Amino acid sequence: MNAREFHDLTAHTPYSVRSSGHTLDWDIKPFPFKVYTDVPAVELPRTFDPVDTDTLIAIAAARDGNAELDLARLAAALYLSAGVTRKKVYAQGVEVLFRAAASTGALYQTEVYVAAGGVRGLAPGLYHFCPGDFTLRRLRDVDVRGPLAHAALDDNLRGRAAVLILTAIYWRNTWKYQARGFRHLFWDAGTMLANVLAAGNAISLAPFLVTGFVDDEVNHVLGVDGRHETTLELVALGPRGTRAPDPGPLPAISHATLPLSSAEVDYPALRAMVDTSKLARPADLTAWRASRTIATRPRGAGPMVPLPSPRTRAGRALSDTIQRRGSTRQFSHDPITAAELATALWAATRPVPADVPFGSVHLFVIVNAVGDVAPGAYVYRAGEHALEIVRHGAFRDRAAYLTLEQPLGGDAAATIFFMAPLDAMRERLGERGYRLANLEAGLAGGRAYLAAYAQEFGASGLTFYDQAVVEFFAPASEGMDAIFVTALGRSVRQPRASLIDRLSRRGK
Ligand SMILES: Cc1cc2nc3c(=O)[nH]c(=O)nc-3n(C[C@H](O)[C@H](O)[C@H](O)COP(=O)(O)O)c2cc1C
Repeated sequence: MNAREFHDLTAHTPYSVRSSGHTLDWDIKPFPFKVYTDVPAVELPRTFDPVDTDTLIAIAAARDGNAELDLARLAAALYLSAGVTRKKVYAQGVEVLFRAAASTGALYQTEVYVAAGGVRGLAPGLYHFCPGDFTLRRLRDVDVRGPLAHAALDDNLRGRAAVLILTAIYWRNTWKYQARGFRHLFWDAGTMLANVLAAGNAISLAPFLVTGFVDDEVNHVLGVDGRHETTLELVALGPRGTRAPDPGPLPAISHATLPLSSAEVDYPALRAMVDTSKLARPADLTAWRASRTIATRPRGAGPMVPLPSPRTRAGRALSDTIQRRGSTRQFSHDPITAAELATALWAATRPVPADVPFGSVHLFVIVNAVGDVAPGAYVYRAGEHALEIVRHGAFRDRAAYLTLEQPLGGDAAATIFFMAPLDAMRERLGERGYRLANLEAGLAGGRAYLAAYAQEFGASGLTFYDQAVVEFFAPASEGMDAIFVTALGRSVRQPRASLIDRLSRRGK
């Protein structure tokens, strides 16, 4: 299966959503934490300095990585990226522990590992981060930065104080979303990486994202099997120090973990997409690293509407923004200002310090209520920092329909549709380009979330009817596919159930 076939197979339409027949089996809902049971826990410090850098500066400014990485700073970076920030108890006592970054359905399939080599207060080795009890568990007691550098053909990883490794456990997401969950792995890793990069910048750890590596080699280092859990990305953190010694061949590890649930459903299409988008040989990596941003742009549509300059400061520190972040469950129809929208669009499109160029994803926007910007459909031209008109009009109903008939999409002040030239990306970057498209959209959406909460309004990620989105934005969307959606606006309190939730409850 290639990415085009997978994308089309997992597209939502009004028919597919109503006829899927999928219902949620609560008896086998996967446990949201990976818990290693045969290795002792290292407690992370629970008191660390708040990260008081202004959120917008943290998103935008890549700083030198000159701050020492000690255990307290590592704990802060992990907490702000993947930590538990809120607890909510629902009817029948069901408790959900919400986390720093948004995640589809609050299912939290993204796991974080740490390869430590130059972290003061932490012995070199490979650790798994458990947000549930805020601990690290040591899985290997040798420094694995060398093997990671080998797997990624990137010698820089050998000398950086630590490397974070993000993986995903498929079943946590497919339990609800089935094979489409493959897309979610990258959307949710993207929202988490928005936080990792912002926290890394704010703590002066010069975060650097690595998307290309020989997948099976990294999976071997972590002791994950690729059938249930696989590596998604690496992030180098902290100053350069002594190069990690080569530990020689690493033996296989397979530590015991708590089962996720008593039974599990396999989604072969997802696994096929994981496999086909892997890099197998160093030659694949060299080709991947030679990637360039895809030149396909949204087709010119109409006159440009200049936007106000983005705000340089929001007045809210990163720690505070992340603690307060939570997806808006109902938007009021109150407007946001043009400067607030401009700042969110600008934040979403900041450069990403990474091994391959980002910038292939484009932002299309439905404006419902934004200061003096006329309601309508637009393309955001990041280079010009302007909105180009696709069509004027009042599109609240249409926006709600496009976002899988969810009121959130229409009630928002503005709804961003992230689109990418998938066919051109596949042709130039191969099947791994599909990972990049979904990751870039998730990361941009995560930055939009941060920019919204920093400016004291709300946001929510949303899913969508794939083809209907492309058709709505035609002709500007020619050659593009819909990848992800983020709605922005001011919130009211009472939540409404989404269509997908209503349909899955009906079958219970
Ligand atoms: C990629 C992504 C897609 C999402 N899609 C939807 C959606 O279609 N409908 C919805 O109501 N919420 C959606 N959300 C919001 C999640 O349900 C929310 O992030 C999750 O419940 C965790 O809550 P929190 O963001 O308040 O911490 C999405 C979030 C993300 C990151």
